[in-house]
Parts: sequence; C-alpha cells; structure tokens
Amino acid sequence: MAEDAQPEASDPELVDVVVDGPVGIVTINRPDKLNALNSEVIEGLLGAMLTLDDDPDVGCVILTGSPESKKPAFAAGADIQEMSEMGALILRAYSQDGQQLCGVIDGMTKPVIAAVNGFAFGGGLELAMACHIRYAAESARVGQPEINLGIIPGFGGTQRLLRLVGRGRALEMLLTGDPIDAQEAYRVGLVNQVVPDGDLMETAVVLARKLAEQAPLATQLILDAVARGADREVDAALAIETDLFGLVGTTEDVREGMRAFLEKRPPEWKGR
Ligand code: COA
Repeated sequence: MAEDAQPEASDPELVDVVVDGPVGIVTINRPDKLNALNSEVIEGLLGAMLTLDDDPDVGCVILTGSPESKKPAFAAGADIQEMSEMGALILRAYSQDGQQLCGVIDGMTKPVIAAVNGFAFGGGLELAMACHIRYAAESARVGQPEINLGIIPGFGGTQRLLRLVGRGRALEMLLTGDPIDAQEAYRVGLVNQVVPDGDLMETAVVLARKLAEQAPLATQLILDAVARGADREVDAALAIETDLFGLVGTTEDVREGMRAFLEKRPPEWKGR
C-alpha cells in the first residue's frame, strides 16, 4: 500500500461500499456517465479500498461498475470532460492520483477481484488490471482508447497491459486504441474467466467467499511474493519467496494448518 495514502471517507453517491460477510463489494456509481472516473470517484475508490484493506473482517474485495448504466459499464475511462480542462501539470497530478489508486489496489493485503460488467476502457481497464483477478461478463469490451484522444494511458496502462498480455499484443491495443471483446480478452490472458452476463456477480462472490476463507496470512504473503517477484530476476524473486516462506513459518496458522490436516479436520485460521 502507498505509504503516504490516507483513508478518506468514500463518497456514498459515487462509490458504493457493501460488506457482505467476509466480502467487500465496491461499486463505481456514476451510471449516467458510464461510471467514468472523475476525481471524486478516484478519491472515493481510494478511501474505500484503504478502509476495506484495514478491516480484519473482510477477506476479499470485489470491484465492479454500477449495473444501472444505460449501457453496461465497469468504467468507460477517466473523465474526458474533466481532463479537457486540465493543464499539463494538473494532468500529471491526475495521473499520479490514478497510479496511486491502482498501486493501492495492487498492493492490498487481501485479493481484489474485478467483476468487469461492461465497458472497461482507458482508466477503467487500468483499474481492472490493478486487481488481482478479473472476471468479465460475456458482453464486456475492454481497451485502451486514449490514443484516439491524442493522449496516452496514465493510470499504469502501458505497463500493466504489457506485463499481462506481452509487448506485441499490448502495443497493438495501445497504438490502435481498438477494444477487444471478453472472449478475446480471455484468449490473450487479460481476464481469468468469461461469465454469462447475468451470472457475473454471483460467480465473483462465490470466488470471493472461497478466497476469504483461505488462511489470511498465507494469502497476504502469496500476494506479496507475486507482486515483489514479478519484475525481478528469477534468483532474486526466489529469494523473496524463501524469506516469506520462512516468515509464514512463524505464524500460529501454519501449525494449525498442518495439525488440522494430520487430524483430518478443517483448519481454523486465526490470522496470526
Ligand atoms: N468521460 C466522461 N464522460 C463519459 C466517458 C468518459 N470517459 N465515457 C462516456 N461518458 C459519458 C458520455 O459523455 C455520455 O454523457 P451524456 O449522456 O451526458 O452526453 C454518457 O457517458 C454516455 O456515453 P455515450 O458516449 O453517449 O454512450 P455510447 O453507448 O454511445 O458509447 C462508449 C459508449 C463507451 C463507446 C463511449 O462513451 C466512449 O467512447 N467513451 C469514452 C471512452 C474513452 O475514450 N475512454 C478513455 C478515456 S481516457
């Protein structure tokens, strides 16, 4: 999590947070603008994510777009109206805010699932790519159309897309600005699963509940190992894994997990 990020109260109008048992559901709620990400939405999302990351009763978070949009949308991008009035330095700060939000999501101590329920364009796809797992509705379309506006992605899109789908495919999407449909996104590894439109949230919640039931410290350390190892040489990445493996060995849960296996009973995780 970004060190200088502070929790903010999320705006109930634009970012809706529901905690359902161990699952936090964050909904971008700006349906009249296809859930486009203006500054208030970005601030609300940051506050919501920081609050849920700090909540010990929440084991997994789902991020989605309001289902009330006139056309299904996860988020149709950063707010073009707002950006059109920004000078260069403000645009730079806007990019930093977006990157901070995506960094916070990426660095959460619990899994974050993007339930991509429609358009995920520009900043919308960048948000989805910052999540740990992406499920997409069959009718969803994703893309980085910034080039059509004469700008470039600024919330991490050039880097996360590159890392998820490889250089050639990423450059094709970035340079043409053309969207791809959910099946193609699945084929290139941009989404984990494509789900019939009406089943998306239910499927995401089933996964979220499963992830929330796993050993919380092991979950956190797996997220950490994958994030910290992703851009390192394999030897350095493996050294991180070994250190975290040793660290998890200091927890009560590791004893409980092995004891439960040997005693042929389900484990009771304590998160310590
Ligand atoms: N920023 C601000 N407003 C946006 C927006 C965005 N990124 N995307 C959509 N909207 C608004 C539209 O301006 C419109 O508002 P209005 O009804 O007040 O005029 C409303 O959302 C509906 O969008 P509209 O374009 O009428 O819907 P559509 O079904 O014809 O097209 C899209 C849907 C997603 C193809 C189209 O809205 C689009 O291309 N959006 C921009 C995508 C983009 O470039 N994102 C990257 C931004 S960096």
